[in-house]
Amino acid sequence: MKVFHTVSGLRDDLNKERQQGLRVGFVPTMGNLHDGHLALIKQARQSNDVVVCSIFVNALQFGLNEDWDKYPRTYQNDCDKLRAAGCDYLFHPDDIEMYPNGLDTQSRVICPTMTDVLCGASRPGHFEGVTTVVSKLFNIVQPDEAIFGIKDYQQLAVIRRMVQDLCMPVLISSAPIHRETDGLAMSSRNRYITAEERPLVTVLKDSLEWMAGEIQSGSRDFSGLEEAAKARIIAAGFKIDYVTACNSKTLDLAAHDDMEITVLGAMFTDAARLIDNLSITL
Ligand code: PAF
Repeated sequence: MKVFHTVSGLRDDLNKERQQGLRVGFVPTMGNLHDGHLALIKQARQSNDVVVCSIFVNALQFGLNEDWDKYPRTYQNDCDKLRAAGCDYLFHPDDIEMYPNGLDTQSRVICPTMTDVLCGASRPGHFEGVTTVVSKLFNIVQPDEAIFGIKDYQQLAVIRRMVQDLCMPVLISSAPIHRETDGLAMSSRNRYITAEERPLVTVLKDSLEWMAGEIQSGSRDFSGLEEAAKARIIAAGFKIDYVTACNSKTLDLAAHDDMEITVLGAMFTDAARLIDNLSITL
């Protein structure tokens, strides 16, 4: 695996690959890689000749009170995992390389739809940070295909919309949520869960599954289902950010005649914010 810390270095090498007609697949990450990330690399491997991964903990998408400074940075370990997974290129820029003019004056990409609800409501500016860095990374890597996990469902929807709106020549593919054996969605932030909380946190997934099951069985009392799911999560000892049923494409609140519905939730443990989701077709 070739490692680059500069835009120009990576570009030079990838240009040579493209000149040979090779197809480039890309997996952007913030590092601290787990099996979910490695599944994205493997998926990229299947449909591309060259696989590029980036590791960059993007300050622009973290709020002032969020965990940018303590976000786990496990570079050597990540490199070993990427090599074993068959990644060809790693792009690992520092903050100066990505934001040479500083964060405050950085030009930004704003997706005005779907970004102020759900995770965007409690994390103002988060998606602007994501769309800005992903656009930059797309411009740097110029991939044919980029792969994102469905765990960050809203992020995936926003990026799809951005790519469509801005005519970016990148195929956006998704990969299923990778789960621990008890069903907890894998996340770099799971390391903040305490031993006492750990057996209980599957309540988020269980509650979303219950809601999805009720909707599949014909219930359209979305707000009643949301309240019941929230009560279950609160009873397990966690604080709710949101639990809701949405139109899978627009992320508008689910309507009675929607055929594609996604139930999404976010809850707080003592030190972590966990998200999960489940999509159903009626
Ligand atoms: O999903 C992530 O890890 C990040 O939001 C991403 C897409 C790498 C942008 O920083």
